[in-house]
Amino acid sequence: MKKNYTYDDICLIPQMTHLRSRNDAETVVTFGRNNEIKLLAPFISANMDTVTGPEMAALIWDVGGIGALHRFNTVEEACRDYLEVKKINPPAECIVSVGVHGYKERCEELAKVGAKYFVVDIAHGHSIAMKEALSWMKGNLRLKSGDKPYIIAGNVATPLAVRHLSAWGADIVKVGIGPGACCKTRIVTGHGVPQFSAVLDCAKEAHRLGIKIIADGGIRNSGDIVKAFAAGTDFVMLGSLLSGTKEAPGQVITKATERGDKQHFKVYRGMASDSARKDRGKEYNGKYSYVPAAEGVKTLVPYKGSAHDIIMQLKKGLKSGMSYCNATDISEIKDCALYELQTSSGFNEGKPHILG
Ligand code: XMP
Repeated sequence: MKKNYTYDDICLIPQMTHLRSRNDAETVVTFGRNNEIKLLAPFISANMDTVTGPEMAALIWDVGGIGALHRFNTVEEACRDYLEVKKINPPAECIVSVGVHGYKERCEELAKVGAKYFVVDIAHGHSIAMKEALSWMKGNLRLKSGDKPYIIAGNVATPLAVRHLSAWGADIVKVGIGPGACCKTRIVTGHGVPQFSAVLDCAKEAHRLGIKIIADGGIRNSGDIVKAFAAGTDFVMLGSLLSGTKEAPGQVITKATERGDKQHFKVYRGMASDSARKDRGKEYNGKYSYVPAAEGVKTLVPYKGSAHDIIMQLKKGLKSGMSYCNATDISEIKDCALYELQTSSGFNEGKPHILG
């Protein structure tokens, strides 16, 4: 039986480096059918309603990455959100999300207001409904310019799924079934693949086919980002790391502690949590006769201030990681990095432990 590993199971082995400064590591990557977009870092903010709205998408563009606007709103709201990004930060591009129900109108309206980059995002992306949506988008959807749309599709966790989604029309495949901070897919359904192995196997297949992948879920620090690139990903998607920030959608919640101090929080929740489903309300419940078991949880996360500083720190951590493995640019990480398995005590040793 094959054994699968996640980020904590592996350690990256330091290499002789030719980089004189960590700042010499180049995090710029390109995005789009003709590599027309230069991202300062390979980060994509998650298309979740507690992570990416217009403010996050406008901000991440300047600091390093691109935002994926969530799809849990009406077509009108989605178009408004897209235009709002352009209003806050005119050069900023962003990715717009669709599901596999009602996608035709949503895609057409979003294309009309100028959207070029689409993500078809469902919990189990290796599905007949995904095949139909991708086939329709490839065959029928045209951008304002008349060009074909650039399409991300997911989520999946196997090389066969990557092959199928690529054949159905995906330009990038999003990889990750159950690794996310607010996910309980593996507990509820028993399904999913530990994320390091999923990324490793899916990246190989994607690159063989000439497409790209996004490692989505389970990234808790910049070390995990470096490990995801060592496994071969082309981009990482960040959810919980960017949750609780000023630019994430949602109100700041203030609570008094027992000592009378004030603590500030924001909500972070899985898009398949009961909480998210309830907020989608009547429209959602009326549309489907069957509501599946919740596969996500909701929690309060401490308010973190601006996402600007978090993204900058992640970018610096990534640069340092690249220096440790002697990679001058992002694409070199997978070729330079050496990884080995570690024990759980080895993993624990690596965390600051003087603090108890
Ligand atoms: P992180 O670990 O960055 O993960 O917070 C973000 C990713 O989690 C996925 N996601 C879910 N997965 N149930 C799941 O099993 C959910 O309710 C859910 N909501 C989000 C999604 O891929 C996101 O980018």
